[in-house]
Amino acid sequence: MNLKEQIHSAVAQSFEELGVSASPPIVKQAQKREFGHYQVNGVMGAAKSAKLNPRELATKVTERLNLPIVNKLEVAGPGFVNIHLAPYAIEQQLMQLGDDVPVPSPEPRHFAVDYSAPNLMKEMHIGHLRTNAIGDAIVHVLEAVGHQVTRVNHVGDWGAQFGSLLAYLDQLDNTEISTELKDLEVFYQSASKLFKTDHEFAERARGYVVRLQGGDAQCVALWRQFIEESIKHCQDVYERLNISLARADIHAESAYNDDLPVVVAELEQQGLLEESDGAMCVFLEEFTGKDGKPLPAIVRKSDGGYPYMATDLAAVRYRAGKLRADTVLYVVGAPQQLHLKQVFAVATAAGYLTDQEFRHLPFGSILKNDGKPFKTRDGAEVKLIDVINEAVTRAYQLVREKNPSLTEEEHRSIAEIVGVGAIKYAELSKNRGTDYIFDWDILLSFEGNTAPYLQYAYTRIQSVLKKAGVEPTDLRGQITLAEPDELDLGVKLLQFSEAIEDALEDYQMNVLCNYLFELSGQFMSFYEHCPILKQSDPEIQHSRLRLASITANVLQLGLGCLGIKTVDRM
Ligand code: ARG
Repeated sequence: MNLKEQIHSAVAQSFEELGVSASPPIVKQAQKREFGHYQVNGVMGAAKSAKLNPRELATKVTERLNLPIVNKLEVAGPGFVNIHLAPYAIEQQLMQLGDDVPVPSPEPRHFAVDYSAPNLMKEMHIGHLRTNAIGDAIVHVLEAVGHQVTRVNHVGDWGAQFGSLLAYLDQLDNTEISTELKDLEVFYQSASKLFKTDHEFAERARGYVVRLQGGDAQCVALWRQFIEESIKHCQDVYERLNISLARADIHAESAYNDDLPVVVAELEQQGLLEESDGAMCVFLEEFTGKDGKPLPAIVRKSDGGYPYMATDLAAVRYRAGKLRADTVLYVVGAPQQLHLKQVFAVATAAGYLTDQEFRHLPFGSILKNDGKPFKTRDGAEVKLIDVINEAVTRAYQLVREKNPSLTEEEHRSIAEIVGVGAIKYAELSKNRGTDYIFDWDILLSFEGNTAPYLQYAYTRIQSVLKKAGVEPTDLRGQITLAEPDELDLGVKLLQFSEAIEDALEDYQMNVLCNYLFELSGQFMSFYEHCPILKQSDPEIQHSRLRLASITANVLQLGLGCLGIKTVDRM
């Protein structure tokens, strides 16, 4: 049990003994030191329903509380209870840790997380940073607490858009093909331009789509070549960004091709299909357009092609029926909210979804500091790989200024980790639902809630441990929490597992970021007020070194969950 659970269960027991068990107590971390470490709310509500005086009830609760980890209890305000934890109990719990950092251990479930999922015609752009960073962090945290996780990269490799690309490819000779595909962005632009300006080309492009979907061998071979190249681009970016998606995690749209007619036939059998202007649609009552008219979910277009909706229904059918995931999380931008709502509703009507949990975790857009969408000067998307390169270049300058004594090689490898960490953390530290402003100076700053700040805190600890000449394994002795900053740091360290739990509640990784930021702040305060290397008492020094070493473990594990690496020096 983490600290909060320990307190909660003792308080709940006092409530029950007093016969006010109808309203459960709410145990929260206190925001300020003078309020202690935790606060119990909910006494007022409980008192009201039991017709008791709230302060009196609060006093009774505290009198009964049987909780050895508590040092001092205060009834405050109209009926809050402030809880100050006992140094002795915190010391004991910290010393039991050894090298392990405890995490919650919920009932294991099988999760599938649908993230990244770029369309393969183009290279990933800056917008893909969100789904990659957030999706991968969620995967790491779920795995850290013991869930089984299937990563699903539902890449867009199918559909009408591929017609022009194939028609264009087919015009080139073999040697040209590989050079052309080096820059997918340019390739895509040339093909789309031809599609718009050259009537004959456009005709041919349409023909290619039909041939591809019909399985024509030559078309399929060309398509493969194209897809191969795009996937290579993606995998390179994942590697640079330290995203844990492997090639085997790709379950592409094209993989559902054979299932599409089956899905349509099954919807037909269920009596869910209606024809509208030649297209096959499902109309569900809860979906109406702006004009109040029913909104169709189109599963087969009038030309016989299958749209995005059909593929997503096939994907739900597969994930629930074959993959047998208990929970499927879709880390997909907010603009697809309605689409996914329709997918889940139709899938439920069709019986594909029963008691599984399918959830969309939407995220907002990345804006420039003038509040406008992030585009290049000529309105094009900014390639993700260019953003990574710029982050690393900027980090290189900073690291060189900060610590000129390192070697060139060290500067380069640290810059890679700091630059990549900074752009991922910028994503993760915001509430995922809202838009956010991408600002180089803020995200690369060594102050504030940034990755460089956390990474720097980690290096400070490493340098203290090194100067003291100790290895973490040497630190097995008594921890003593005598100073307020020592006690607060000790409590904060034990709260890691609460932070993980809270972050998983609504899959908000900023909760974990905030925790790590506060932990680093608490460490810095401890470091300032509680001398370590200058400490003459060897036992106090040992205790402080041990606290520092646990802090480093927690920082490393927490950042690791966010997909961010640490360095020993910078
Ligand atoms: N390829 C889509 C896009 O770029 C995202 C796919 C998300 N996943 C899904 N199952 N629809 O917009």
